[in-house]
Amino acid sequence: MTQLAIIGGTGLSALNGLNIVEQHKISTPFGLPSSDILEGELHGKTVLFLPRHGPKHTIPPHKINYRANIWALHHLGVSHIIAVAAVGGIRQDLAPSSFVLPDQIIDYTYGREQSFYSDDFCAENHIDFSYPYDERLRKDLLQAALNQQITIVDGGTYGATQGPRLESAAEIKRMAQDGCAMVGMTGMPEAALARELNIAYASCALVVNWAAGLSDGLITMTQIEQTLVGGMSQVKQVLDEFIRMQ
Ligand code: HPA
Repeated sequence: MTQLAIIGGTGLSALNGLNIVEQHKISTPFGLPSSDILEGELHGKTVLFLPRHGPKHTIPPHKINYRANIWALHHLGVSHIIAVAAVGGIRQDLAPSSFVLPDQIIDYTYGREQSFYSDDFCAENHIDFSYPYDERLRKDLLQAALNQQITIVDGGTYGATQGPRLESAAEIKRMAQDGCAMVGMTGMPEAALARELNIAYASCALVVNWAAGLSDGLITMTQIEQTLVGGMSQVKQVLDEFIRMQ
């Protein structure tokens, strides 16, 4: 049976319209998740929601307990995760306000707990990660966007950086040379942990700024916040349609 969870990112700390039926406080072998996990009903389906930066957006990307978040969702029977993310655009077609479903990842983060098996490892725990995102889930999200006449770019490499600072122009230049289409701070190890527990995972990313050095001037939070408001309401439209399609 499919059980969907949505992990909200910057700009999506709550899921409008979610008719909450239960609030799960879960303590995991890896500590506490970013928040209680909300279980609710949306368009007649049960949906779980977890804001990865906490309900008040107080947890920075490098301090998120990714293991506790994914473990807690798995514990509640989650089989599919849609991770919502705000990213900086690197590739030319990813201007602010674009939507994109990444299909690859390069991980530039460091010092984050990367695995559920760090302390108790065996050879089978080397998961295959050739294609980090679930293709079926990606295609269903693309269809949901199409049904809503919302343009979503199909594919691009997500470069995961450590944060919380934004990147230097030279770092972005290097990432572009590596083949990154976008940059964000939370895509890893979230995607790999979901794969370790066999949860289908896809990310729906909203481009909120040109990455460092790619536009005139500096990156401002005001500009990012303006883009987030309109953009996240469209992300919600895609999620609504996706849930109706299930
Ligand atoms: N860099 C890293 N993470 C981000 C950015 C960025 O430019 N924009 C939104 N999240």
